[in-house]
Amino acid sequence: MKALRSHNCGEINESLIDQVITVAGWAQRRRDHGGVIFIDLRDASALLQVVVDPDAVDAFAIADTVRNEHVLQVTAKVRARPEGTTNPDLPTGMVEVYATEIEVLNRSEPIPFQLDDDDMSESVRLKYRYLDLRREKMQKIFRLRSGVTKYFRDFLEAENFCDIETPILTKSTPEGARDYLVPSRVHAGDFFALPQSPQLFKQLLMVAGFERYYQIARCFRDEDLRADRQPEFTQLDIETSFMNEDEIMDMMESMIRGLFKAKLDVDLPAEFPRMTYADAIEGYGIDRPDLRIPLKLISVTDLMVDVDFKVFSGPANSDDGRVAALRVPGGAAKLSRKQIDLYTEFVGNYGARGLAYIKVNDLSAGNDGLQSPIVKNLPEDVLSQVMQRIGAEDGDLVFFGADRAKVVNDSLAALRVKVGTDLEMVETKWSPMWVVDFPMFEKDEDNGRWTSLHHPFTAPKVEQLDELASNPGNVLSRAYDMVLNGTELGGGSIRIHQTDVQKQAFTALGIDDDEAEEKFGFLLDALRYGAPPHGGIAFGIDRIVAMMSEVESIRDVIAFPKTQKASCLLTDAPSDVDKTQLRDLHIRLSPAAQAAKQAAEDQAGE
Ligand code: AMO
Ligand code: AMP
Repeated sequence: MKALRSHNCGEINESLIDQVITVAGWAQRRRDHGGVIFIDLRDASALLQVVVDPDAVDAFAIADTVRNEHVLQVTAKVRARPEGTTNPDLPTGMVEVYATEIEVLNRSEPIPFQLDDDDMSESVRLKYRYLDLRREKMQKIFRLRSGVTKYFRDFLEAENFCDIETPILTKSTPEGARDYLVPSRVHAGDFFALPQSPQLFKQLLMVAGFERYYQIARCFRDEDLRADRQPEFTQLDIETSFMNEDEIMDMMESMIRGLFKAKLDVDLPAEFPRMTYADAIEGYGIDRPDLRIPLKLISVTDLMVDVDFKVFSGPANSDDGRVAALRVPGGAAKLSRKQIDLYTEFVGNYGARGLAYIKVNDLSAGNDGLQSPIVKNLPEDVLSQVMQRIGAEDGDLVFFGADRAKVVNDSLAALRVKVGTDLEMVETKWSPMWVVDFPMFEKDEDNGRWTSLHHPFTAPKVEQLDELASNPGNVLSRAYDMVLNGTELGGGSIRIHQTDVQKQAFTALGIDDDEAEEKFGFLLDALRYGAPPHGGIAFGIDRIVAMMSEVESIRDVIAFPKTQKASCLLTDAPSDVDKTQLRDLHIRLSPAAQAAKQAAEDQAGE
C-alpha cells in the first residue's frame, strides 16, 4: 500500500529543495493572499508552509475549501522561501512547499475555540481535551513528560533497579487519604481498594529479594483536590534493600540533579540542604519551606508571657500557642496600609484572627520610633528585645501572628511566600532541599489519637525504639521528603523490617493485634521470613513535570485529568450504571443517594 506521506513536516528543509515530497497533517491556518493560498500545515513534528498557486488548478480548488483543522495530504515541491519571508524560529522556516496535489483526508467542523487562545476557560479545554492537546504548548509538555519518565527509567536501570508492576485491584494501602473502592461481583459484599500507593507490595518485593525495585505507578486517593493534587496521579515509586537513608537520599539527589541538567540545562546545587522538621516549622511554619524566599519566622512567644496585650499573652501562656514575627526588610516603605489590610484578609483564610504589624521607623528612638496600632500595648523593653531578636533595622516592617501554633504557622507560612513573591524577593529560580527527622506520629485533632505523619510502615529512629510505647509523640522517624520551591516532590523512609517493631507501631496508632492481623497480616507474616532492612521513596511525577514546565496546576501535565470535583468533563465520569450491573455487584443505592442523583439530573436538565 502506498504510504500516506514521504516525510514529516519537520524533515522538510533546504536539503530537499526541488524535490517532490508528500506530507500529511492538519491545516492550522489558511490565508488567502490575493490569488495565492497559504496553508500552515501542522503535524506532530512541525509547521510547514504550503503555497497553492491558481496555476495548480485542482489543488487550488481544493485549497479554497480547506478550513482550519481539516486533515490534508499534500504533494508538493520544496523550494527556498523568497528573501524576507524566512522564519528562523521554525525548523522548516527557510523553505516552503509548492503544492501540486491536495487531498482532504478528513474534514473538521469549526472547533469550539482557537488553538492559540491562551485565555480559554479550563472547563472548555477539558471537555474538548483532544483539541486542547493539539496546542503546541501541550504537545511540548507531554513530550517533556515522556522524556522525564525515560530519564528516570534509564537512570534506575543503569543502577540495577527492576521495573515490577503491582496490583491495581488490591487491599487498602493507607497513605492518609480515603480509598477508592471497587465492589466484587464474585465475593458478595466485599470490596477491592485501588492502591493509594504500591507501598506494601514494594516492601514485599524487598522480602522477595529484588533489592532494587521501581515502577511508574498510578495511585488513587479520594481526597480534597487542589492545584497539585489529583484523585489519580503517577508516582515514580522506588524501594531498595541494604541502603541507609543517606545513601538513598544521595542517589535520589543525583537522579533529580541529572534530570534537571538533561532536560532544562539547569544546575541544581551539588548538595541539597537538609533541614529538620522542627527547624522547618520553627523558621518557616511549614514542612516544605520555599527557600527561594529569604524571609523567616522568629518566635517571640517567651517575650510575651507577661505583657498586658491579651492578643499576645493569651497564646504565649497556652501550651499549644505561638507568637511569631516575620520581618520584611525595607517593608515599611514598600507596603501600604491598603496592602497590609489585604494581607490581614489573606491570613484570615488560614484561620488568623488578625495580623499585627510594626513599621520600624527609627530604632534609636525606642517605642516612639515604632509605628503600629499595637505598640502602645507593649512595654518598651519587650519591644526592644523583640527588635533585637529579629535583627530589625530602620525601614523594616514586622508582621506578628499570635494564636494556636498551627494557625500561626499556617498563616505566616503562606504570608511569607506571598509577601516574598509580591516584593520580588525570590533569590534563586530552583531551591531543592530535604526535610528530615519528622515525628513518627501526630495527634489527630478530631479524636485525639496518634496518626502516622507518613505511613505506619515508617521506621523510628533506632535509638528511640523504647519510646514507641512510652512516649510516641517524642519519637522521630527515619523519613525524608524532597522539597522543591515549596512543593513536596517526593517522600520516603527507611521501613520497619521487624515484626515486633511493626506491631509496636500499630499499637501506638491504636491498631490492636486483631485489626493488625486482619488488615496487614500478610505484611506481618512476610516480615517473619527474613525481611532485609529496606527503604525507599516515591516522587510525584505530575508535580515534577508541572514544575519543570512552569505551569500552575498538575492538570496541565495529565493528559485527561479530573476537575476539582473529581469528575472527567470529557467522558462525564463518574456516571450512571445499569441497574443490572448494580444488582450483579450486590449494591442498592440508598434513598438519599437516589434523591441526590435525581436532583443533579434535574439541575443538569434545566
Ligand atoms: P506520599 O504519600 O508522600 O508517599 O506520596 C509521594 C509523592 O506523591 C505525590 N502525591 C501526589 N501527586 C498528585 N496528586 C496527589 N493526590 C498526590 N499525593 C501524593 C507527591 C508526594 O511527594 N508510599 C509513600 C512513599 C514511600 O514511603 O516510599 C507515598 O506514597 O509528590
Ligand atoms: P485588636 O486588639 O483586636 O484591635 O487587635 C490589635 C491588632 O492586633 C490589630 O492590628 C490586629 O490585626 C492584631 N491582631 C489581632 N488578633 C491577632 C492575632 N491572633 N495574631 C496577630 N495579630 C492579631
